[in-house]
Amino acid sequence: MRRTRTQVGIVGAGPAGLLLSHLLHLDGIESVVLEAKSRDYVEKRVRAGVLESPTVQLLDEVGLGDRLHRDGLRHTGIHLAFDGARHHLDFEDLVGQGITVYGQQEVVKDLIARRLDDGGDLRFEVDDVTLTELDGTLDGQRPVLTVTAADGEVDELECDYVAGCDGFHGPTRTAAPHGVWHTFDRDYPFAWLGILAEAPPSSTELIYAYSPRGFALHSMRSPSITRNYLQVPPDTDVGDWPDERIWSELQYRLDAEGEPPLTEGPIVDKGVTPMRSFVTEPMQYGRLFLAGDAAHIVPPTGAKGMNLAIADVWVLGRALAHRLRGGPGAGSDELLRAYSDTCLGRVWRAEHFSWFMTSMLHRFDLADGGDPFQHQLQLSQLRYTATSRAAASSLAENYVGLPLPSRSAAQGAAV
Ligand code: APR
Ligand code: PHB
Repeated sequence: MRRTRTQVGIVGAGPAGLLLSHLLHLDGIESVVLEAKSRDYVEKRVRAGVLESPTVQLLDEVGLGDRLHRDGLRHTGIHLAFDGARHHLDFEDLVGQGITVYGQQEVVKDLIARRLDDGGDLRFEVDDVTLTELDGTLDGQRPVLTVTAADGEVDELECDYVAGCDGFHGPTRTAAPHGVWHTFDRDYPFAWLGILAEAPPSSTELIYAYSPRGFALHSMRSPSITRNYLQVPPDTDVGDWPDERIWSELQYRLDAEGEPPLTEGPIVDKGVTPMRSFVTEPMQYGRLFLAGDAAHIVPPTGAKGMNLAIADVWVLGRALAHRLRGGPGAGSDELLRAYSDTCLGRVWRAEHFSWFMTSMLHRFDLADGGDPFQHQLQLSQLRYTATSRAAASSLAENYVGLPLPSRSAAQGAAV
């Protein structure tokens, strides 16, 4: 057994854990990142790929913008497709900002490369992470992360603070005693079948489609790679979806008058993603702080998951620096105590927006023979959004991303 100490023990090398480690490093604070999977695995895991405007600004400011600006695709809006036609929402015109399409695994690659260049302590392929010595106070005993390292040795890591950045199924949230967390959740009666294809995009902007057979999304990763999604039943086996069936369903659901069919190509990745909304309150228990998917899940329709994870660790990084760094105000745990409340305003806004987009764009009734009333309500909402500047602006403001909490205080925004 080896016993060491660190200032911040971080569980999980997704966008939340890696960015937190980088932000802390910029503030002169040391951390150790513990990740169950291999570096190769986390760098290749295909996830969503829309960066909000405040996310891009933040990544720029902390020196992570180079490849993102070179390879990311800057979009100024989205299309909504329904009733056999496409309607463009011009975010630049509506709210003066756009979004950047850049895969989550590219963000992860950039972060890993940067942390390793800076001598960061990233430990991949660790096993059996357990968190103990949590007494629920900010100034009591130090928590301990016990972990089997890749070399088979058991390490004990005593931490001033622990960041649970280990996703929905990770071990940190469940390390707190029963009854600490108040959770809110919603399941949806469908999942997404996502594919990556070697085919050039058929549109300059993303297309969100509501069709009689359910939702479809046309997205992209580069001028030669598209990313597409189909609403499917939750228990879908990808084996039931050969490539021809996927393309034919995408063509049907994304068909619009006057538009050419999608360009097809070899499918190089297929996966089914469940749809769920979930929030944990508070996002802190003593010296344990939850961030990203460990604390909250959104259905992917609003593309908020990675952006929320990044916003959380921005707040957490500042609060930890405030507590641990020298200089004026040093030592105060005021921002750490405020962490949960500071994040939750933004979290619930994103929860609502993601639920709203999901509810507007999916068929909820495919399994039970149809609900014409519900269908008409959704069509009415889509038509309103496509024709009312007020409705379109509300969608655009949420989609491009509200200011980060720390900045919004200075700017007087509500979240
Ligand atoms: N021990 C160590 N690491 C673990 C463990 C464990 N027991 N359990 C999970 N992890 C790791 C996962 O392998 C993963 O790499 O925690 C990491 C969590 O990363 P993400 O799932 O990417 O979560 P987060 O960083 O919060 O980013 C949220 O990811 O799921 C998407 O849609 C979501 O875009 C959002 C983003
Ligand atoms: C993606 O490109 O993977 C993507 C885009 C928009 C979403 C979800 C996923 O809403």
